[in-house]
Amino acid sequence: MLAQLSLEWMGGATERRLRAARPDFDDLPWDRFDPGRMTDADCIEARTVWTNGVFTEYASAAAFSAMNLAFMQCGAPVDLCAAAADFAVDELVHVSLVSRLVMTLGGATPYVADLERVAPRLSDLPARMRAAELAIKVSCVGEALSLPALTASHRGATEPLARAVLDRLRHDEGPHASIGHWFLAWAAPWLTPGDREYLGKVARDAIAVYAPLWLDPDAAVRPVLDHDGETTYRAYMEHAVEHRIIRRLAKIGIDARP
Ligand SMILES: [Fe+2]
Ligand SMILES: [Fe+2]
Repeated sequence: MLAQLSLEWMGGATERRLRAARPDFDDLPWDRFDPGRMTDADCIEARTVWTNGVFTEYASAAAFSAMNLAFMQCGAPVDLCAAAADFAVDELVHVSLVSRLVMTLGGATPYVADLERVAPRLSDLPARMRAAELAIKVSCVGEALSLPALTASHRGATEPLARAVLDRLRHDEGPHASIGHWFLAWAAPWLTPGDREYLGKVARDAIAVYAPLWLDPDAAVRPVLDHDGETTYRAYMEHAVEHRIIRRLAKIGIDARP
């Protein structure tokens, strides 16, 4: 059911557990935010963007929870299952950090979501292929694009607190984009050529879901700094798709070329 997104924090024993598992996770310059440095319009825009960010982090936590269950249902290695569960906790930490940033900026803007549908939809394939599908969608594509997208926002963010939050989010994204490949390395002996072909289609469809982010007209002109100097957001993200997704999957015989 669609409803206004509203999150709660329990505190006490559960907060102590989280702080023991992720010490200093919110050790960021919260008191350095100066609302006077932002125009009202910029502040509303930042609140809108970051409110959307709260939901995307929440959805990432649900995706890693689904991945953990799918890995367990196909008997994946225990430490690999544990990594998926641990990454769900990383994403819940991101939810709390981004929520706190939104509150510091002045509060959330209206955001309607259906939490019952927050996890990725699963196919009715056998358990191993369901897990492989999730590994591709969530990690090899989704998380692989989240690092460059966050990096581009980081370079554009001038507000020190927003930069610090982005930095903290980026810190976890490398392993998040790798767990899909760790799973596929374990799965390699039983993946048939037909399975790999199917997973290539899964990857292409997943890339297509994100493509509007860099195909809109604004992305073709919006400047972004990369290692070689200034480029456009579209060129930067297309480079990320080629190098972080297509070439990595090609190495294990999965063709994700459009
Ligand atoms: Fe995240
Ligand atoms: Fe992530």
